Amino acid sequence: MPHLYAVIGNPIEHSKSPRIHAAFARETGQDIVYERILAPLDGFADTVNAFRHSGGAGANVTVPFKEQAFALADQLSERARLAGAANTLKFTGTGIEGDNTDGAGLVADITRNLGFRIAHKRLLIMGAGGAARGVALPLLAEHPAQLTFANRSIDKALLLQQQFTPYGAVAACDYPALNGLQFDLIINATSASLTGDAIPLPPNLYAHGSLAYDMMYGIGETAFLAHARSEGATQCADGLGMLVEQAAEAFFVWRKVRPATAPVIAMLRKPT
Ligand code: ATR
Repeated sequence: MPHLYAVIGNPIEHSKSPRIHAAFARETGQDIVYERILAPLDGFADTVNAFRHSGGAGANVTVPFKEQAFALADQLSERARLAGAANTLKFTGTGIEGDNTDGAGLVADITRNLGFRIAHKRLLIMGAGGAARGVALPLLAEHPAQLTFANRSIDKALLLQQQFTPYGAVAACDYPALNGLQFDLIINATSASLTGDAIPLPPNLYAHGSLAYDMMYGIGETAFLAHARSEGATQCADGLGMLVEQAAEAFFVWRKVRPATAPVIAMLRKPT
């Protein structure tokens, strides 16, 4: 009997996760079936429980349910607890284990696929919502010189600073206060790319050898990356690698096997 997994979200029809996990399963010889499930906006917990009772072994959770998945889990990993959100659920005999593989996926893409060393570097995360909070702990675990949260509304950045200060050197500010500073890695964790908005940034933010990383993918070059290129960022990357790496980390949580990710990233980059 194959082991049954699914990605649960709303909307869900465009999710690439079934394709990614099918490729991982083929490559590693794991006997799994991976579906996509549309949960009603007011019916996430019922959908998870029905899937679990029909034989599901685990699920990925995507927008807008990651916080509800966090609340539903009986046990949480430290990285899920600090993210305040879960994107990976594992069903066990005793309950639901909640984990969050987004930050590990981002770090794997940056360090392994893009060859950028985070240790001792100056990091800037733009945004202070769920996406920013979800990746902070694994980034801090790489020992950057400092991690700065910049946000339009500074209150949210200050809250994240407070929360993550026990885990490393963390700062918070609004965008105008970045004037005169330089960073080695700038990550766009805002949802501004979705609406095509460019966030006004002071000039000369990008240090020599810097990487600009947009957690968005699949919408062409974002305003953030176009600006980074024009400002002389050495490397620019979208979030497709992170998508595949967070999936690989979830696959590892469930199956204890690490799939190779490069062929899957290449497959998804090929025009269909
Ligand atoms: P997510 O879970 O994707 O992080 P969120 O929690 O709604 O979504 O957070 C969205 C983030 O994008 C916030 O940091 C938001 O800034 P504010 O907290 O100041 O609202 C940021 N954001 C969205 N649109 C933006 C824009 N046009 N300019 C600047 N920041 C923007």
